[in-house]
Amino acid sequence: MTERDYYVSCGRGLEPAVVGELACLWLRSAIRVQEQLLDAQVHDATDLYDAVSEIDWDLYLTPDQTLAVTAAIRDAPEFTHSGYTALRAKDAIVDQQRARHGRRSSVDTQMPDLPLKLVLRGDRLLLYRDLAGVSLHKRGYRPVQVKSPLNEATAAGLLLRSGWDKASPLVDPMCGSGTFLIEAALMACDYAPGLLRTFPFEFWIDFDADIWDALLDAARARVKPKLGFQLAGADRHPGAISIAKESAQLARVGELVSFHVEGAATWEPPMHPAFVVTNPPYGERLGDDEEDLESSWHDLGTFLHERCAGAEAWVLSGNREVTRLLRLRASARVPVMNGPIECRWLRYELRPRDAE
Ligand SMILES: C[S@@+](CC[C@H](N)C(=O)[O-])C[C@H]1O[C@@H](n2cnc3c(N)ncnc32)[C@H](O)[C@@H]1O
Repeated sequence: MTERDYYVSCGRGLEPAVVGELACLWLRSAIRVQEQLLDAQVHDATDLYDAVSEIDWDLYLTPDQTLAVTAAIRDAPEFTHSGYTALRAKDAIVDQQRARHGRRSSVDTQMPDLPLKLVLRGDRLLLYRDLAGVSLHKRGYRPVQVKSPLNEATAAGLLLRSGWDKASPLVDPMCGSGTFLIEAALMACDYAPGLLRTFPFEFWIDFDADIWDALLDAARARVKPKLGFQLAGADRHPGAISIAKESAQLARVGELVSFHVEGAATWEPPMHPAFVVTNPPYGERLGDDEEDLESSWHDLGTFLHERCAGAEAWVLSGNREVTRLLRLRASARVPVMNGPIECRWLRYELRPRDAE
């Protein structure tokens, strides 16, 4: 087999979590996996067309399959329009097909058989085929799009970065749609996130169905039906908890997590937590109710002080001002991006009760 180059993308700050879990089936914290098909120097659109034509596209695509090309351009003044650049690359591919077969692939921008990504950095052209198509964070367990949910890949990456041992009782007192807890359950029962979805590469010419089936069988055999510890979450919003429950069912971990409608200031988890992970509101939008925001962080502080003695807590904060309302000092601060928002993943070590 020839050597291949892959490019795997993830949220900034989560790179160490991605390293070590490289395979579409098992990737929890990455967004895309792309195989490099071309690395060439190009100075204008004609060079680009010629470079893309050099590839033998019969290896990757039949005229009956669909394709889509997207482009990202930086520091390349000859290529000002990404749509036009992508179009030239697509033309090079379908012109080759037409010359060879008298037929060509159609474009499908939604669910193409072959999603291609073209990257131009100065005069360097890189062309990738995207193994995941739909971003890997889309596991297939969200029933509806919820307001400010934590992206699944980010939640998994943050859990991995926290060093949680996948065996200690874990809670999220502001769990919203339950992303941390669902991802924690999937990790703890060794459920490969890719088992819940399909990938474009399953329809590719060079796809080896026997190898893939063997990988799927091996992944299914690893799933643990039960956990020897508890996972629990609460949110004061009943609508969020019903989405969390439904999502957990769809992710097949509904039996492994308990969800409760309760405010953080008063919630009594069903077990003593060893680990707390949470993503409180931090006022992403202008005009968010400041008083409400402050009371949320104050309530989280109360929960941590009164019900989490001896636990390790990790809190995702995008707002330094409200973080002080926890009345705790962070022992680690990891810079991470949550979508476009620059955040800190903060660790707090809560004193054991007998030390108070
Ligand atoms: C940024 S969202 C969390 C998103 C969540 N990680 C997810 O996966 O969907 C913050 C959540 O905190 C909840 N919340 C705010 N103040 C609360 C409080 N005092 N007690 C319990 N939940 C609270 C909100 O209802 C909201 O669902």
